[in-house]
Amino acid sequence: MTGKNATERLVWNAEGITRSAALLREGGLVAVPTETVYGLAARADDPQAVARIYDAKGRPSFNPLIVHVADVAHAKTLADWDERAELLAERFWPGPLTIVLPLRKGAGLAAAVTAGLDTIALRCPAHPAMRAVIEQSGLPLAAPSANRSGWVSPTTPEHVLETLDGRIDAVLDAGSCTRGLESSIVALRNLNDGGQGGAAGWAMLRPGPVSEEEIAAVLGAPAEVASGRIEAPGQLASHYAPGKPVRLDAEGAEADEFLIGFGKVAGDCMLSTKGDLKEAAANLYHCLHLGAADAKPRIAIAPIPREGIGIAINDRLKRAAA
Ligand code: TXA
Ligand code: MG
Repeated sequence: MTGKNATERLVWNAEGITRSAALLREGGLVAVPTETVYGLAARADDPQAVARIYDAKGRPSFNPLIVHVADVAHAKTLADWDERAELLAERFWPGPLTIVLPLRKGAGLAAAVTAGLDTIALRCPAHPAMRAVIEQSGLPLAAPSANRSGWVSPTTPEHVLETLDGRIDAVLDAGSCTRGLESSIVALRNLNDGGQGGAAGWAMLRPGPVSEEEIAAVLGAPAEVASGRIEAPGQLASHYAPGKPVRLDAEGAEADEFLIGFGKVAGDCMLSTKGDLKEAAANLYHCLHLGAADAKPRIAIAPIPREGIGIAINDRLKRAAA
């Protein structure tokens, strides 16, 4: 908490954007909507501001943050950019793709942003509210999901306040996030750092709205075989946890279970009645929040097809159940 006051609720209009940018320039913490989830933003060039993110979230300091930029030109000031990054950015930015690249010497970011790694995760978000805040502040913004570490990610301002009210300076309210699942994370290997695929070596660190196939098509090479070591610490086995036991692939509910349904499995809350995976992704965290708040002590979740964005949904569910 940087101010003495409670968390400010800001409306998404010119005034709300100006206030958000001013708080960020002063080193404050503002939860800002993106198309994926709400991010907890701080200026990435200020060690104290970045330290506040870790403190407010209770985030382990070994877990690095994504830095949000206005455009490719901005990204080039922070990372050693290359042709592969250029291709990916042309196709997927602004949007839900994070690119991990070598950190540029003299980038001027707080060391805690990258948790001391020599790489940096960059994303150019599509949400006009986040874009306006980046542009008005004139800053690269570090922003993890705006929730207490390990907890279910936030897709509404109410979700943010559930765990961070009084711990952050403000939340900028732009309603629900349209995508609902965190960005896909791709690591582009340096030629010398042991990548398997030479110049084209790349790895998928976190599945998300942009699929591995789409990325492979743009880069013209398949992803490296997963090494098994954890490279994106957010990919720890237990994450996105609703605080009670979660049972996956449930065709129905036991008496003490809150059922999250999909398609023909009718539940207390529906990911998508018509069995649409995009709709299910957008509703996933909303349903997990409802299940967490429900009186029933356990949560059950209908089977979700493991295809397209369903791969990312199942990735999050596996960790929510761990
Ligand atoms: O959609 C998103 O990506 C959202 C919105 C707010 O942009 N952000 C988000 O941040 O999901 P967070 O902190 O919850 O997840 C960031 C992930 C973590 O798994 C972290 O370990 C990984 O990015 N990461 C950050 N920097 C990295 C790096 N240099 N190398 C590998 N992984 C990195
Ligand atoms: Mg997160």
